Amino acid sequence: MRRVRYYQYGGPEVLTVEDVDPPAPQAGQVLLRVEAVGVNFVDTRFRRGPGSGSIFERPLPGRPTGDVVGTITRVGPGGDARLIGRRVAALAEDAYADYAVAEAQWLAPVPENLGAGDASMLAMSAPVALRVLRSAPLRPGDTVLIHAAAGGVGHLAVQLAKLLGAGTVIGTARSARRLDFVRSVGADVAIDYSEPDWPDRVRAAAPGGVDVVLDAVGGPVLQASLDLLAPFGRAVVYGAATGKLEHVPVVSLFALRSVTGFNLTAWRRANPDEARREMDELTDLFAAGRLRATVHAGLPLTEAATAHQLIESRSHTGRVLLLPGGLGPGAA
Ligand SMILES: NC(=O)c1ccc[n+]([C@@H]2O[C@H](COP(=O)([O-])OP(=O)(O)OC[C@H]3O[C@@H](n4cnc5c(N)ncnc54)[C@H](OP(=O)(O)O)[C@@H]3O)[C@@H](O)[C@H]2O)c1
Repeated sequence: MRRVRYYQYGGPEVLTVEDVDPPAPQAGQVLLRVEAVGVNFVDTRFRRGPGSGSIFERPLPGRPTGDVVGTITRVGPGGDARLIGRRVAALAEDAYADYAVAEAQWLAPVPENLGAGDASMLAMSAPVALRVLRSAPLRPGDTVLIHAAAGGVGHLAVQLAKLLGAGTVIGTARSARRLDFVRSVGADVAIDYSEPDWPDRVRAAAPGGVDVVLDAVGGPVLQASLDLLAPFGRAVVYGAATGKLEHVPVVSLFALRSVTGFNLTAWRRANPDEARREMDELTDLFAAGRLRATVHAGLPLTEAATAHQLIESRSHTGRVLLLPGGLGPGAA
């Protein structure tokens, strides 16, 4: 089978397609024949190596993770053989491949009629988008500021904020094309946060301050966002795309503000039943067409480097997929 790894840190060109035997699932694991892989931003940072920032350190060889959609072909020792043949989504390591191993515990069953783009969101991106909103917690009528709203998690968070009853949703992104996209998925206001006066534009859209901020950008964007919070406003920090980990000045919280951190693994460990229930809830929303993933590009497996280029150049809107199973009509 084909598999993509990297053996040195660097640009997208270090991604290497190799021919290897399919992996064997261990106890508690399943083997998937991969139909599609959602490519995530964080893996572009891991690939660049430690220079990307201390939170992006991963050992070599690099084994990209990804949101795999596929069919179970084998189960590990002691596993439930009835799973074979089921279409599922899972976050997997060594995911850019024709076959990938995944933990059985966090498989998301995928209805047959769900496209690969929507399905690729079920294992990680959609659960993150929903839970960061609920961690705030978002309350009906709240004004919500969502940074990097044109990205994979971001464009789902905009839709989910509306579904959860948010009032005004403000999305940020760079470039006019991406701002149009942010509006098209339901944001009331879209603001270019590469412009230095972006906080003033948020203030103009939300004169009383924002109730909720979702941030996975970090650096000055996070710093400025804290000042935009209304009394009792809540910021949820779930990443740092800039690689800059800011200290949150305690004094900035005295104006009745709070900051919460979020990580999906920690959430699943802390409350596995609720985390599982939310995966089912999201599957129902996608199946009903109430939540939709936009697929920016569906590429052959051998073009993993192009997928990383698209994400690093910040030109993608929504999801970038690799399609080991082929580029058939239903692929994306
Ligand atoms: N905590 C968790 O459990 C968890 C799980 C999954 C993902 N995440 C985080 O969620 C965020 C979104 O993930 P995703 O895979 O959906 O990525 P994505 O949003 O599709 O891509 C990252 C986006 O970040 C923005 N960005 C801001 N500053 C950037 C910089 N200096 N360099 C590059 N991009 C920058 C870009 O949008 P603009 O060009 O419009 O600024 C870019 O499109 C990531 O930060 C990721 O680490 C966290």
